[in-house]
Amino acid sequence: MTLTRRSFLAGTLLAGGSLWAASSLWRPSAAAESRQLKIPELIDARDKSQSVVLKAQIGKTSFFPGRESVTLGYNGSYLGPTLRVHRGDDVEMVVTNALGEDTTVHWHGLLIPGELDGGPHQTIRSGSTWRPVLPIRQPAATLWYHSHIHGRTGEQVYAGLAGLLIVSDDDERALGLPSEYGVDDLPLILQDRQFENGTLVLPQGMMSVMHGRRGDTLMVNGTVNPTARVPRGLVRLRLVNGSNAREYDLAFADDRPFHWIASEGGLLDKPVELRTLRLAPGERAEILADFSDGRPATLETGPDGNLPMMMGMMTAAANLGRIGRETVVRFEPQGKPALESKVPDRLHAYERLDEVKAVRRRRFVMNMGMGGMMRGGPSMGGMMRGGMGMLGINGRTFDMGRVDEQVRLGDIEVWEVSGDMMAHPFHIHGVHFEVLSRNGSAPGIRDQGLRDTVVAQGPVELLVKFTQTAMASPFMYHCHILEHEDNGMMGQFSVS
Ligand code: C2O
Ligand code: CU
Ligand code: CU
Repeated sequence: MTLTRRSFLAGTLLAGGSLWAASSLWRPSAAAESRQLKIPELIDARDKSQSVVLKAQIGKTSFFPGRESVTLGYNGSYLGPTLRVHRGDDVEMVVTNALGEDTTVHWHGLLIPGELDGGPHQTIRSGSTWRPVLPIRQPAATLWYHSHIHGRTGEQVYAGLAGLLIVSDDDERALGLPSEYGVDDLPLILQDRQFENGTLVLPQGMMSVMHGRRGDTLMVNGTVNPTARVPRGLVRLRLVNGSNAREYDLAFADDRPFHWIASEGGLLDKPVELRTLRLAPGERAEILADFSDGRPATLETGPDGNLPMMMGMMTAAANLGRIGRETVVRFEPQGKPALESKVPDRLHAYERLDEVKAVRRRRFVMNMGMGGMMRGGPSMGGMMRGGMGMLGINGRTFDMGRVDEQVRLGDIEVWEVSGDMMAHPFHIHGVHFEVLSRNGSAPGIRDQGLRDTVVAQGPVELLVKFTQTAMASPFMYHCHILEHEDNGMMGQFSVS
């Protein structure tokens, strides 16, 4: 029984999977070989006189030698180029859709008006081109872009429609942080995918809706089992959790400390020394890792623990073989030791939001359990119609035609967010927020900084500032487990 809507792509990907699985030159040992980490091409909007050309297309990718998978990418077969834009510029994006099905491109984390946001309302029809001009007015940060097509975001991102978006500014450049792209400033897009005999397959069915699509193979920038050559010194890692559902619990195998320097919204006041870092879907973190001792280092993650309770137990039983830590990426320091590798004492004071100025409070409960269904009649109907719709927010499943909340431009509000059955990464479009409290206590160390995505299970209070208009086109708020989002755990708000 398949409960997920099937698209052209899903058909292709599945057909691709069985086709290739039928020929059996596959050596399982290929899975164990380490490969050099791919670094996506950099498009700097300054060099390209500020017009950035992206083409969403179908391609074939060899994740394992001799095995081809049907995938999607921007300007290539899987993922997209890294786009670097500069504060103060207006950057024209020229996005052509050559997929053979509709898509959108959402600039996750950019503070721009609703009609430029690339959410589900800015559909780029198959064969057409979208040309938004994006005003870049926010501080330096690591953002990303990805498909946000209504109901099929999970599928399109899984197949490869995502990329990194870097905002740079003068304050950040003045700090002298490592910033040579691909050398000491590395993008690391973390994803898990499911393979059969070396070919990518798309998980389908009820479990993949409840859990979100997950896989037994980790990749970074589309490279399975990657090794990165790095200089012997400080290296900046821009970590993006680009998985559909999986959370990472990152640490170096030798337990070396590293410095966390930027949250989703940009630089922190000062570096924070950590040894572990949790990263939920949609979240980003910049860290400085010190490789000046010249010793190889391995970044690892713990077992994937964030699953709805009952199903989590079933999955854990099925996965007993892979409990323990897994390699995310190996680093091999090369060359002479750097003359200097000092972490700066201070970074950049970000704009603090004032709690006293909050004008109202709204509550959002992300539900996947019966409670939410019972309260929200409409989601019950949705479930009967298509097997969807038991997921929702405040008991209501997403409806493109319904604006759930109306916010006034310039206001600061408190949004109290919680979730049932598991931790859900809550994301709000077009805003920055700060975490005010978590589970009734002071925020944790990883809650600091400006953000656009935050994990919630017990109640988290967010102080949100609305600086962007969304009138003709509302903004979204949703769980960033993409299958939860696709199946109704999303709402929309206008700002005017
Ligand atoms: Cu990263 Cu609404 O998305
Ligand atoms: Cu977003
Ligand atoms: Cu969720």
